[in-house]
Amino acid sequence: MSRRLIYAANWKMHHGPVAARAFAERFSATVEPREGRELWFFPPAVSISATADALAARPDATVGAQNVYWEQKGAFTGESSVPLVAEAGARGALVGHSERRHVFGETDADTARKVAALLDGGLVPMLCVGETLAEREGGDTERVVLRQLRAALEGRSADELGRTLIAYEPVWAIGTGRNATPADAAAVHRSIRAELARLGTAGRASVLYGGSVNARNILALLAEDELDGVLVGGASLDPDGWAELVGLGG
Ligand code: 13P
Repeated sequence: MSRRLIYAANWKMHHGPVAARAFAERFSATVEPREGRELWFFPPAVSISATADALAARPDATVGAQNVYWEQKGAFTGESSVPLVAEAGARGALVGHSERRHVFGETDADTARKVAALLDGGLVPMLCVGETLAEREGGDTERVVLRQLRAALEGRSADELGRTLIAYEPVWAIGTGRNATPADAAAVHRSIRAELARLGTAGRASVLYGGSVNARNILALLAEDELDGVLVGGASLDPDGWAELVGLGG
């Protein structure tokens, strides 16, 4: 039997509530749930509710936030807490996405607080890690990725680690059309898995790959056993393109 695969769509700053609902309805009309395949949708915060409503009947689809703040409530203008996104229909959230780290200056310490807030609130963190081009060329990939991993997850229980998803997204591969070779991605995934085992993960952790994944390269990537799925930006924005992509692999 083939392994369970996760296909996650990160819409970034695209699709308001009207477009998100139309996307979800069109996607649902064309794609049947499939055994062993799990779908995640990360719409902008304003569209969580519309997306979750439109996908409510699908047992295979889960909606998450792209970001959360770690406090429960209060005077934090512009931020959304875990209880707020959960009320809107989110069951998880991305943490430490490369754009949060490199455009908005999110630190390793911030990612740790966000992971903790999500786990405490019963939501699934999808922790994103990845090196810059300079770090890769300097031979620092493993050091950087494992540092990001440890900073966010050190001290969490086996149960909490078991509820956490990891996405390896090399910064230089995001939105560039350049992606890691399947073998390079698999090598980093192996290091991530070994580190997760050291941190106390029991069983097989789910480690996704992201960075310029599309219908032309997904099969070669998923041919690597180390990849438990994909986190997709640009190629997830069109419902028919996304329907095609989630039909590949598995
Ligand atoms: P692209 O698929 O557009 O490269 O984006 C990847 C990503 O950042 C998903 O979180």
